[in-house]
Amino acid sequence: MPRFPPSPSQRLTTPRFLLQEDWDNWGWVSLHCLGTFIYADILDYKNLREIVVNNRITWLVHYSALLSAVGEANVPLSRDVNITGLHNILDICAEHGVRIFVPSTIGAFGPTSPRNPTPDLCIQRPRTIYGVSKVHAELMGEYYHHKYGLDFRCLRYPGIISADSQPGGGTTDYAVQIFHDAVKTGIFVCNLKADTRLPMMYIVDCLRATLEMMEAPAETLSMRTYNINAMSCTPEDLVQEVQKQLPGLHIIYNVDPIRQAIADSWPMNFDDSNARKDWGWKHEYELPELVQTMLNFICTNSRLTHSN
Ligand SMILES: NC(=O)c1ccc[n+]([C@@H]2O[C@H](COP(=O)([O-])OP(=O)(O)OC[C@H]3O[C@@H](n4cnc5c(N)ncnc54)[C@H](O)[C@@H]3O)[C@@H](O)[C@H]2O)c1
Repeated sequence: MPRFPPSPSQRLTTPRFLLQEDWDNWGWVSLHCLGTFIYADILDYKNLREIVVNNRITWLVHYSALLSAVGEANVPLSRDVNITGLHNILDICAEHGVRIFVPSTIGAFGPTSPRNPTPDLCIQRPRTIYGVSKVHAELMGEYYHHKYGLDFRCLRYPGIISADSQPGGGTTDYAVQIFHDAVKTGIFVCNLKADTRLPMMYIVDCLRATLEMMEAPAETLSMRTYNINAMSCTPEDLVQEVQKQLPGLHIIYNVDPIRQAIADSWPMNFDDSNARKDWGWKHEYELPELVQTMLNFICTNSRLTHSN
């Protein structure tokens, strides 16, 4: 079995995206240790094709996107990256027999969808370019699967909470920002109303779900796009949990009407019973463990930064 993590020389001599052997040998841990990064524009079809062929890519995990709030601020760019970018990726995967995972989102639903809970199959009429592009991705991927046999797999993620990356311009950003501000300044300005309920998940559960779904034998999948869920919480729930650890945290609610309108059209709770039944999805992090883990991570990082 190859050494994990790869040594710097191994990394230099084996530039690649992620190969099947990486999954087999190392599972989902520390993906960033596994190889060289190649910067590429999702809109540059020729370059993407070269990367896929030259690096013998077998699985493509397509994360590039503009998220909900930034998407509304730049619709033409969002349409290009989220829709044209997806077309590029689907065509390359279909042409070269590459398997593909694309994340979708709670944002793929809209005000006419049932919101509590939202099942896998129901009305999807989102009101953001982000949501429209993700419904398009779900449908195009499923169409390529039926038409060309493409191994397309898709999970609708809830809001993802993670400590080691900055919020990316989504409507659930508040649930990440609160931890950084709580540790840094003790004051958090929340741009959603205190009682706005949305589905959320800790990043470790999200990555594990992704890998488990990618590894699931095809015959266990009754669908190609599944909801996954862990918890459903409001800013108030999150604040109360953070205040158990940091009682001095002060909250100011300054509602952003654009983000609030988006959040009010999204699911409050996600029905992920099909994922649990078909390929055994089970989340591990509830809100208290999530808060504890996030605070531990951010406090340790901030202590390290100050001591350097
Ligand atoms: N973060 C969440 O809560 C959440 C929830 C549901 C789904 N998702 C999905 O997960 C994926 C990743 O989301 P994220 O939170 O990491 O967002 P992010 O904004 O942090 O990451 C998006 C990435 O897309 C890249 N990108 C933008 N334009 C590009 C281009 N022209 N070419 C190549 N790359 C380009 C950006 O550089 C960035 O790294 C997205 O597809 C998103 O829809 C995220």
